[in-house]
Amino acid sequence: MIKMKIKHSLTIVLIAVGINLVFAETMQGPGLGHAATIDEVAKWNISVFPDGEGLPEGRGSVSEGEVVYNTQCVGCHAQGGIGSAVGDQLAGAQMELTSDYPEKTIGKYWPYATTVFDVIRRSMPMTTPGSLTDNDAYAVTAYLLYLNNLIDVNAVIDKSSLPKVKMPNEDGFVKVYEVKETNK
Ligand code: HEC
Repeated sequence: MIKMKIKHSLTIVLIAVGINLVFAETMQGPGLGHAATIDEVAKWNISVFPDGEGLPEGRGSVSEGEVVYNTQCVGCHAQGGIGSAVGDQLAGAQMELTSDYPEKTIGKYWPYATTVFDVIRRSMPMTTPGSLTDNDAYAVTAYLLYLNNLIDVNAVIDKSSLPKVKMPNEDGFVKVYEVKETNK
């Protein structure tokens, strides 16, 4: 009788250990949410680097960008990108960065043209971020670069021409990676 009991409890212990192992396999976290799908990861994996790494296929002209801007951006950033109470000033700076009232527009302040594309594609229009097609994001980037006198009115930008747009304030920033290199 006692032998039977020991045998039974041993079985129960073994089952319990087994169940625990199964749980340990499947529950490697608090058990919330679900593993990101390849599609979900792709939607977030859109970073564009200063040298243009990560830029998608597609293209956009200044004139196409003007249409996008005047339908989707002008309400907040105003005609010509001069800004309003709602949206930042993007172009048309009169005051230098070193003045008492610096205007940090794309042309005066931003170090890389590729970042303009990245910011617009991921975050604008503010009420529907991520809704622009890659072509529309290229086009409206082109229009804003044109408004800042950085590219010609007939320019078309894509993943090879955008990184070549030289921004006037690029050297106004400290490049952390290069600083580390020289400290070695
Ligand atoms: C509903 C209002 C709204 C609309 C529409 C909108 N924006 Fe914006 N935008 C903002 C606001 C507010 C900011 C400032 C956000 C911040 O600083 O985080 C901003 C910031 C920006 C910036 C960064 C400015 C800077 O110097 O930091 C860019 C570039 C920009 N918007 C471009 C666009 C483009 C292009 C469109 C149209 C496709 C657009 N925005 C539509 C409200 C808007």
